[in-house]
Amino acid sequence: MDINNKVIVITGAARGLGLAMAEHLAEKGAKIALVDIDFDSVDHAASMITDAKGYACNVSNEADVEKLFQQINNDFSRIDGLVNNAGILRDGLLIKFKDGEMKKMSLDQFQSVIDVNLSGVFLCGREAASHMVQSGRGGVIVNISSISRAGNFGQTNYSAAKAGVVAMTTAWAQELARYDIRTGAIAPGFIETEMTAQMPQKAYDQAAQMSPLKRMGTPQEIAQAVSFIFENDFISGRVIEVDGGTRI
Ligand code: NAI
Repeated sequence: MDINNKVIVITGAARGLGLAMAEHLAEKGAKIALVDIDFDSVDHAASMITDAKGYACNVSNEADVEKLFQQINNDFSRIDGLVNNAGILRDGLLIKFKDGEMKKMSLDQFQSVIDVNLSGVFLCGREAASHMVQSGRGGVIVNISSISRAGNFGQTNYSAAKAGVVAMTTAWAQELARYDIRTGAIAPGFIETEMTAQMPQKAYDQAAQMSPLKRMGTPQEIAQAVSFIFENDFISGRVIEVDGGTRI
């Protein structure tokens, strides 16, 4: 796909990876619909980018997501691409047994991550695909997974969601190819954003050292991989690992 003049929706675009993607794709001539639950920040972010508009939406709310894509289609008259990037962390152990006391990960802690990181991807992917099919122009859907998709200590909820994201990417590539829609996923390693800034300092320092390159990645390096999936018409249904060679 030639990105120039295409309309691309990016969720979780108020900051971090989503914002870097918005800036990178806009530089290549795309018109960007920036979506985030934090409206003030996304509105401000959109105002800094040419041909962009900010939208407030919780990606895990079905009715809001349906309205969102209808609104974006009305505003831009088309939807060519989606990056499912919005995501949250609620790390914790499945169970912790110490001094005779058993602590468990609550269903709410598990479900809140599944709602945003998995159901949100499902809902936005479904709505974007439906508009792309109705327009007859096809499109590209990129899902942001994680190095944690293989399973990671303290991340039962997050790992399960991020593995599911890759599975949906493959399923959609098979189902949607007949409508000229391609899909792709990116599994970033540890990247410098507000999300990783929440990590305890010791864990943050260790994360950087886990890469043979001995550093965290930058949001721009993930944005570049997103545009690679958009631009390469023979990529579909696969996950690209952008993690500096890190193994967890
Ligand atoms: P971040 O926390 O800096 O930004 C996430 C954005 O998503 C925020 O602006 C937040 O307001 C928004 N958001 C959260 N819940 C939402 C909801 N329900 N509806 C709409 N928007 C919502 O995170 P970061 O680091 O930019 O991560 C972006 C994506 O990349 C996430 O899916 C994350 O899991 C994934 N990722 C990040 C890595 C990293 O090292 N930073 C590594 C691997 C994956």
